[in-house]
Formats: sequence, C-alpha cells, structure tokens
Amino acid sequence: MIFDTHAHYDDEAFDDDREELLSQMAAAGVGAIVNMGASLEGVEASQRLAARYPFIYAAVGVHPDEVGSLDEEKLHGFYELCRNRKTVAIGEIGLDYYWDRESHEIQKQWFRRQLQMAKDVGLPVNIHSRDAAQDTFDVMKEEHAGTTGGIIHCFSASAQMAREYVKLGYYIGVGGVVTFKNARVMKEVVAEVPVDHIVIETDCPYLAPAPHRGKRNSSLYLPLVIEAIAGIKGMTTQEVEESTWENARRVYRISG
Ligand code: NI
Repeated sequence: MIFDTHAHYDDEAFDDDREELLSQMAAAGVGAIVNMGASLEGVEASQRLAARYPFIYAAVGVHPDEVGSLDEEKLHGFYELCRNRKTVAIGEIGLDYYWDRESHEIQKQWFRRQLQMAKDVGLPVNIHSRDAAQDTFDVMKEEHAGTTGGIIHCFSASAQMAREYVKLGYYIGVGGVVTFKNARVMKEVVAEVPVDHIVIETDCPYLAPAPHRGKRNSSLYLPLVIEAIAGIKGMTTQEVEESTWENARRVYRISG
C-alpha cells in the first residue's frame, strides 16, 4: 500500500471536492496519509480530518512562515493534542530562508521550541528546510533531534547532507520533484540514500509529479513518484511501494 507521509488536505485547493477525492484513496491503494499542521488553523483542521477518516493521521506543528502566530499558551494546547492517538508527529517545523517571512532568530527560536516539544511528548518530527540547510542541521544537532527521529520533508539539499541525516536516524522524504527532468540533485539523493531510509510524500496541493507538474497534486499521483524511485534504484515498483510503506509506519510508529 501507498503511504503519503506529508499532505495538506485542509488546503482550500480541496474545498470543492475534498470528500469525493478522499473517498477514492482506498481503491487507488493509498492506505495512509499524514496531514501536516502548518498554521494554527491547519493544526485544528488536521485533527478534524484524522477524526473523520480512519486512514488519515495528524501532525501538530507550525511552519516557519507562520511562527509569528505562536506563543507559549498556544504551544500548551499543542501538548494536549499530542495525546490524541492519531497525532503521529510534530510538523511541519523548520527554517525557511527563501520566503523569509519571519526573522531567522524568531524562526530558530520556535524551531527549537517545537523540537523540544517533540522530545517531551515522544513523537517524531517532520522537518521543512528551504535555503537553510546548514542552520537546520546545526539546530537539530544542538537540540539532539536524533532522539525523536523523523523525516526531512521535500529534501532539497545535497546527497552528502542526506547521508548526514540518515546517520542521525532520519528518513528522507521524496515527492514529485524526483520526476522532474532537471532534478539532478534529487535523483543523486535517491541513488545515495539506502532504500530503508526513503519515504514518499505529496506536499499536496503543491509539487505534482510530471506529467502533472504545475497542477493540483494529490496522493493519487504517488505511483509516479514510486516509478521514478524504482527506476533510479533498479527495483520493482512493488518493492518500492512496500519498502516506503514499512518505513513510514516505522518512523511514525504506527502498528496494527
Ligand atoms: Ni508541506
């Protein structure tokens, strides 16, 4: 079965047909989806989706673009949500120096605080890092983020950095980008990282794989990502699907 480790089905891009789309997942072989928190509203919406659909799980966390809306009281509420059986991760959290919506200091402060929360509640993390590879890695080392483990989502740094994360016990999240013609580094990363440390993700509605590039993404397109990984690894699509399913369940600690 297919495991989408990072999705945003609360996004308004799905407002017209969310229910219809999600009702197609089982027949398409999509067995599990983790809906990320990104904003405060996104955290709540993820909880609602997880309560409604047996195959959807929730992550609790605030994206670096949105951390200006955080304070200790709100974080206290997050700790409560982490007790929900279907909350499986803290995410997405990290640093984004591309959009630079908040100062680097503020971003780092809340990244650290949310990493600490992950340790406090014993959940893995889902990391967003854009144009901030070294700072992300440094903060994670300083906060001993290896103890919780997790996924580096939409991995975009070098193959060497990927190796460092794998050493730290992390999984590399691979999505639509691996199908793009010009994605040389991403293909190198997939070639380099052992298959038992690769998971797949959509980041939908964004980052649809080729030939749907630029259109609305969904978990239904993940077979295209599996195909690309299988091609690079010299494996069958069935092997990649099974391996990424098992890896995702291991990192999110889902059993049964
Ligand atoms: Ni995302």
